[in-house]
Amino acid sequence: MKVGLISGRKVPKFLSKCEEMRVDTEYGSITVKVAEVGGHSVFFINRHGGEGDLPPHQVNYRGNIQALVASHVSCVLGIGTVGSLNLMIQPGDVVLPHDFVDMTKRRVYSFFDTGRVHVDLTVPFCPFLRSRVLERCRTMKGMSVHESGVYVVTEGPRLETPAEIRMYQTYGDIVGMTLVPEVVLARERGLCYASICVVCNMAAGMQASLSADEIIQVFNEKKSMVSSVLEDTIQSLDAQRTCQCHRAIDKASL
Ligand code: HPA
Repeated sequence: MKVGLISGRKVPKFLSKCEEMRVDTEYGSITVKVAEVGGHSVFFINRHGGEGDLPPHQVNYRGNIQALVASHVSCVLGIGTVGSLNLMIQPGDVVLPHDFVDMTKRRVYSFFDTGRVHVDLTVPFCPFLRSRVLERCRTMKGMSVHESGVYVVTEGPRLETPAEIRMYQTYGDIVGMTLVPEVVLARERGLCYASICVVCNMAAGMQASLSADEIIQVFNEKKSMVSSVLEDTIQSLDAQRTCQCHRAIDKASL
């Protein structure tokens, strides 16, 4: 099988023996690192570009997903950092979101700029992939995992205000900047997609102040555990999928 990994950080250790290539798409040229893991080909993309420096609102979301489509990937794991809106979810925890609320403002949200295509997001994340990730998280000693949660997506690049966070608390459990449109574009292309969110802080107003250093520090403390979860999940994948993700577009055209 061919599996995609999209992360905001560097390539995980288990992919260190990889080959780098450029995949040219109609949305731009994307740097992809390829490695073999447990009989599967893994295609790694740094969400923030080859240099890893594009802010969340400038990410080439369509290029990233299209590069995975061009590489014949069928399953995609997205890894990201988030803040917590919910006191039951603490820094260092991992959340596997089951739904999202989109508060972004100016991104390119679709591959379908012409025609009337409306993909169904009743089940926004692939249930098959989520359950595989959850099984692996549960076997990981010292990992505190939340099997569901609503991810509120903000435009960034600034962090939120305390008043915004009070509003978002009525909708969701975690807040971050990169899930949308990634998850939507994956569905439009019929890919299975699951998100693994590392909670790095309590959201604005829930702790005294926020800094990028703190976010990176918490992520770095958890990254070897997350890397093991990814490696085990990839090894557990087989071609038997019971989900309907690959048929997303069949009933989407008006
Ligand atoms: N808000 C938005 N994005 C984030 C946060 C946050 O508090 N923490 C990590 N990514």
